[in-house]
Amino acid sequence: MSTDFTASEVQAVIRTHTGPVADFQRTARGFSSDVTAIVECEKGPFFIKAIRNRPGGRRDSLTRERQINPFVWPISPALRWHAEDESWIVLGFEAVEGRSSDFGPDSADLSSVVELIDCIGKLQLPPVAEDWPETRWDPFVRDDSEAELLRGDALLHTDINPSNLLVGPVGMWAVDWAWPTRGAAFIDPAILALQLVSAGHSPESAESWASRCTAWRDAEPQAIDAFAAAQLRLYRVALGRKPDQPWLHDMVSAARSWVDHRGVAMD
Ligand SMILES: Nc1ncnc2c1ncn2[C@@H]1O[C@H](COP(=O)(O)OP(=O)(O)OP(=O)(O)O)[C@@H](O)[C@H]1O
Ligand SMILES: [Mg+2]
Repeated sequence: MSTDFTASEVQAVIRTHTGPVADFQRTARGFSSDVTAIVECEKGPFFIKAIRNRPGGRRDSLTRERQINPFVWPISPALRWHAEDESWIVLGFEAVEGRSSDFGPDSADLSSVVELIDCIGKLQLPPVAEDWPETRWDPFVRDDSEAELLRGDALLHTDINPSNLLVGPVGMWAVDWAWPTRGAAFIDPAILALQLVSAGHSPESAESWASRCTAWRDAEPQAIDAFAAAQLRLYRVALGRKPDQPWLHDMVSAARSWVDHRGVAMD
């Protein structure tokens, strides 16, 4: 059992929900949170996600993740409780047995991955998400009319990547609903397409997987073009800020080949 000070602090905040804790295992992923762990305990087990309670922290993100959970269950594991004191904010989820999915070209997970993204695309937009318009690509589109192509009434996950799609013995989950938004339905399948290219697919192969999603098939091609170009500009800016991050180099070159494949002229 972990005896570090941070873990003990978090355990004190969640104790009424967990009862006595037998084991507190940090997860390998969980870079955006201050602590993520599987907690074996009297009332659990639980997966917990904790952030420090401080101004400018990720409170808004954890609040969104808490508010959206009832509407994305059972695609996401259920949120069982949340706890807060002056130092910590913690979400406690049902713990599931799953591994990160494999997005590679020969992966056996791909059919289930696209099915899951298609299921997300069929969720109703809950009232709580009506005021969460998707705007993060606005600085990276050419003009207002392109920004308009990214608007819509679909509930979006927006962080589709292998470590957020967990493969279990009998099904899959989409975890980490850290910034769900309301936007054009093709955005999640399009994020998947770019992730597939960065995992080694040709753009043709990536798009053929994405095209199993209704929202992709229903999209205007020029909307996907605008999004692909915006992704390239976004990752170029991110790489400019953090040139030492190999994954950002990968995303820029994946976005470049996707944009080239679609024949989108960049300025
Ligand atoms: N309910 C759960 N049960 C078991 N493991 C989980 C559960 N939810 C998430 N995990 C595991 O914990 C990891 C981190 O969770 P999550 O992605 O929500 O945290 P995060 O802080 O936003 O992390 P990151 O920035 O690394 O994506 C996931 O990649 C997954 O492996
Ligand atoms: Mg994650």
